[in-house]
Amino acid sequence: MRWPGVVEYYRDHLPVGDAEAVTLLEGNTPLIEAPRLARKIGIDARLFLKYEAMNPTSSFKDRGMTVAMTMARAEGASAVICASTGNTSASAAAYAARAGLKSFVIIPHGKIAIGKLSQAVMHGAQVVEIDGNFDDALRIVRAVAEQRGVTVVNSTNPYRLQGQKTASFEICDALGGPPDYHVLPVGNAGNISAYWMGYKEYRDAGVISELPKMMGFQAEGAAPIVHGHPIEDPETLATAIRIGNPVGWKTAEAARDESGGTIEMVTDGQIIDAYKLLASTEGIFAEPASAATIAGLRSLARADAIEAKTVVVCTLTGHGLKDPSNAIEVCAEPCRVPADLDAVLEVMGL
Ligand code: F0G
Repeated sequence: MRWPGVVEYYRDHLPVGDAEAVTLLEGNTPLIEAPRLARKIGIDARLFLKYEAMNPTSSFKDRGMTVAMTMARAEGASAVICASTGNTSASAAAYAARAGLKSFVIIPHGKIAIGKLSQAVMHGAQVVEIDGNFDDALRIVRAVAEQRGVTVVNSTNPYRLQGQKTASFEICDALGGPPDYHVLPVGNAGNISAYWMGYKEYRDAGVISELPKMMGFQAEGAAPIVHGHPIEDPETLATAIRIGNPVGWKTAEAARDESGGTIEMVTDGQIIDAYKLLASTEGIFAEPASAATIAGLRSLARADAIEAKTVVVCTLTGHGLKDPSNAIEVCAEPCRVPADLDAVLEVMGL
């Protein structure tokens, strides 16, 4: 079968009627088993990585964007707008181009990984940088939408979560059932809410009979849900999840509580260690925010919070190539020698 994209494949589970899909054939991403990483982390469980970097713009946002843009076009929108820490803007710009719609993106100046910014500008979005953070950008976006009637494609748009829930379907379809634990990063708290909705819908449809525990991780400097109050100046090197007042706060808490899961935090140091461990142990390159899941799983393992003989899925939300500056910074610089065999052999230590 030729994969038709998320809207066509899961149309019966999506509120899209017979709208013509705006698609880049997103979804159907690999669910990669990671036994070496499981051993290194010290869990006696089968560990799978849902590698969402393999979507067309290299993040999970494309699942939501195909549905949001399909409906924006069907409903006659002429322009879309979003606030973003980077990935949403990249995806919105690409899908708007595909749909023939104008796109505006409002982003925090200096806090967007270079790969993401390059995507937004290449796909023709009008990019506006503000001297503020994501929460400020979203506030402005909502006001623009109200005053000018432009369609918001942040996760305040319910079609976004509808699309993102399809990742749960894919995982259950691939494993023949749900995992015991699902670990993912939490920023604006849309994705954890979407996954939970997907699992519950598959249960209600009789496709699965159990539900996973939802385990979310925020970055220590941007952990409003963990602290129980908004964070005025969120700070983390995982810029994708640098958010102080998430839109999906309540639904994320519901996912945590209904599933018997948890939402905790990891430090930037733990994120960087996990980022390197994942890339060097399994050959999988994910951006720092995605590595927060691996850091989180490690801290769960240390606390003995993962039962033996279970199945764990970690979502890797975005590609490491989006944010190469972090990678270069945290690894040893390549050494430079003259173009000479002996010199090369010497530094190789062979
Ligand atoms: N991981 C990555 C790579 C992200 O880009 C985001 C969110 C998250 C995790 C968190 O997901 O917000 O649903 O809890 N990025 C948004 C953006 C905020 O603008 O690209 P969430």
